[in-house]
Amino acid sequence: MSAYHQNALKAGSTLADYTIESVLGHGGFSITYLAHDNALGAHVAIKEYLPQEVAARDGRTTFVVPRPSKDAIRFYHWGLKNFVKEARSLARFKHHNIVRVLRFIEANGTAYTVMEYEQGQTLAQYLRDKGQRLDEPSLLRIVMPILNGLHAVHEVGLLHLDIKPENIYLRRDGSPMLIDFGSARQAMTENQPSGRVALTHGYAPVEQYPDKGKLGPWSDVYALGATMYRCVTGKRPDDSLDRYRAILDYKTDPLKPATMAAAGRCQPALLDGIDWAMQVHAKDRPQTPRVFQDYLLGRSKLPRAVTATPAAASASTRGMRGWRVRLAQSFARATQVVVVIVLLIASGIGGWFAWPKIQNVWLTFYQHAAGPDVSMATAPTRPAPKPQSAPPRKATVALAPAEKKSASREPTGAAPMPTALRAVLPGHADWIQAVAFAPQGHRLASASNDRTIRVWDVDAERSIAVLKQQYPTNAIAFGPDSRTLASVGTDGGVHLWDIGNASSVGRLDTSGYPLFSVVYAPDGNSLAAAGKDRSIYLWNLRNGDRRVLEGHDGTVNALAFRADGKSLVSAGADRTIRIWDLTKNAEVASLVGHKNTILTLAVSPDGRWLASGDAGNTIRLWDLSLRAHMSTLTDVSQAVLSLAFAPDGSWIAAGSADRTVYVFDVKSGRLMQTLKGHEDQVQSVAVSRDGLILASGGRDHVLRIWQARAN
Ligand SMILES: Nc1ncnc2c1ncn2[C@@H]1O[C@H](COP(=O)(O)OP(=O)(O)O)[C@@H](O)[C@H]1O
Ligand SMILES: [Mg+2]
Repeated sequence: MSAYHQNALKAGSTLADYTIESVLGHGGFSITYLAHDNALGAHVAIKEYLPQEVAARDGRTTFVVPRPSKDAIRFYHWGLKNFVKEARSLARFKHHNIVRVLRFIEANGTAYTVMEYEQGQTLAQYLRDKGQRLDEPSLLRIVMPILNGLHAVHEVGLLHLDIKPENIYLRRDGSPMLIDFGSARQAMTENQPSGRVALTHGYAPVEQYPDKGKLGPWSDVYALGATMYRCVTGKRPDDSLDRYRAILDYKTDPLKPATMAAAGRCQPALLDGIDWAMQVHAKDRPQTPRVFQDYLLGRSKLPRAVTATPAAASASTRGMRGWRVRLAQSFARATQVVVVIVLLIASGIGGWFAWPKIQNVWLTFYQHAAGPDVSMATAPTRPAPKPQSAPPRKATVALAPAEKKSASREPTGAAPMPTALRAVLPGHADWIQAVAFAPQGHRLASASNDRTIRVWDVDAERSIAVLKQQYPTNAIAFGPDSRTLASVGTDGGVHLWDIGNASSVGRLDTSGYPLFSVVYAPDGNSLAAAGKDRSIYLWNLRNGDRRVLEGHDGTVNALAFRADGKSLVSAGADRTIRIWDLTKNAEVASLVGHKNTILTLAVSPDGRWLASGDAGNTIRLWDLSLRAHMSTLTDVSQAVLSLAFAPDGSWIAAGSADRTVYVFDVKSGRLMQTLKGHEDQVQSVAVSRDGLILASGGRDHVLRIWQARAN
């Protein structure tokens, strides 16, 4: 016999004027019975307060008694008090779309609400019958009346706090009503003595988790939005806490917006409304059911401006390009991009053939590396840079003032800095998350939240391939053949692409948690990826073997191979940089000092310097051979999202949440250039192997291409 049966009142037992017939349902806090009203001869539904974790029924007396611990007793009585309080308010309440409470009974050491019994089924059951999805008219026939009911409930100061398909009941005539006012649940969520969280994952907004903000009508709006999401996509939405955490870490929101997940199935305006209601940050949502309903009725538009929030203080407040952009942005206040990766790869292989000085260094390292160097076989051709006089695109005519101001500082004798804006490449429909240069030529890949990866011929300034992804991509890396591309994202797999025919050529599996970083070893024979589950996965691409490196105490955001391919550097939420010796499969050193989550890493092509950037505003430069801290750069004003070294290691570019690309001289740590122009966070920067081109990708959907100035 299950605990539930043990706890339920027996069929045939009486309670006041009612005879219990059967159990309709049971949750963590209560049991709902079908009962017969002996006086009126009608059916009623009776809900009994019985928080099963802390109380049970005494089989002999039918009394409900809390377990004999101080905590359980306190929890039980406090929940009971709230159950009584809210049942009383509901009992006075009469609304067609709210379950009708007839009376309230105290008995058996607990309390009961007696409700009108309605024939019908829950929305959850209805969805199952309908193949998990509803069309737009059916959905609105349910949602609009529920919004009326919700408005009325809020008017008397109550919140539901557990709206989901299971708690929307459809009468036989199709009219909906909200059931299951988790009276105890509401109170317990707010200051539960035991600190447990009572909520339904996927539907509960983040403020229902401990210390995550204030509850209010907007909390029910979120849950109703999530319910609608479920109805149009057929899927339970991602958990708000996961979404919240991703956003805090500048990662991609794991929830695919309704506008994409249900594209073509409903009118875009409805899907926009769902995405609005499901904003992670409470103040970005419709604040009341009325506001939401007005929008759904076409009486109002989506608000145009988004208020920045502490969780993403750097998020755009601009939102002047209409609500679609607004949504994308606030949706997007997540982010990250560990593109650096790209860089290191970019730093790993063929490009320095153009740099004889460095080549020696590389060969020195290479002698120690195992296996044939794939990149050696494919001698890179150094493409002729486009004439400097090439007319910039329209959008690029004006250089940002700061750019003009700081245009002239360059380290003497070092590679020229590609800091003159050459082109702005539009094409992506959402923010650009990662950019990466191929080892050869000026082929660039950009991954966007629009779920495409575009490959560009930068010299021709055009897109040459589009790869379609199902999930948001967090990071990309080119293989040494410049034709294979690896991408990782929220689905937890490493996807391998053949750019030549824009096709998927393989997938490497991990535990399935989102991945934030992917890098090829310089020799191209192995590949590493890491992310949310804290592990670093390392594949031998020749035989498919997989190794796992454990040690980080939090999400791993960034990886970088050293040029010898024998050591790997990793960093992330635990604010520690770890250096792994891959010949021993062991961590050999850790570098500490960052006070915030580390978001990005880059290793200079000669393997000497390591740069790390964090979610505060700090870049640290380290001497990798000495494993020593060299300097701390604090000119960036917000999170450092991406770093990329010059091929000769003389300068480093940083993309920041403050919408700026910074270029620093590595040896002196001096700020050399400030490149403005992006209208939103710069998610990712990459430098071409020959050092002639710097590319930056932003949340403003565009790629900016920078090149050295003509002398
Ligand atoms: N007034 C009612 N009329 C008909 N069925 C009801 C009524 N109230 C609840 N039910 C049924 O009982 C089930 C459980 O009720 P609910 O209030 O959601 O409690 P819980 O989810 O906490 O068990 C519902 O899913 C529904 O099928
Ligand atoms: Mg329920």
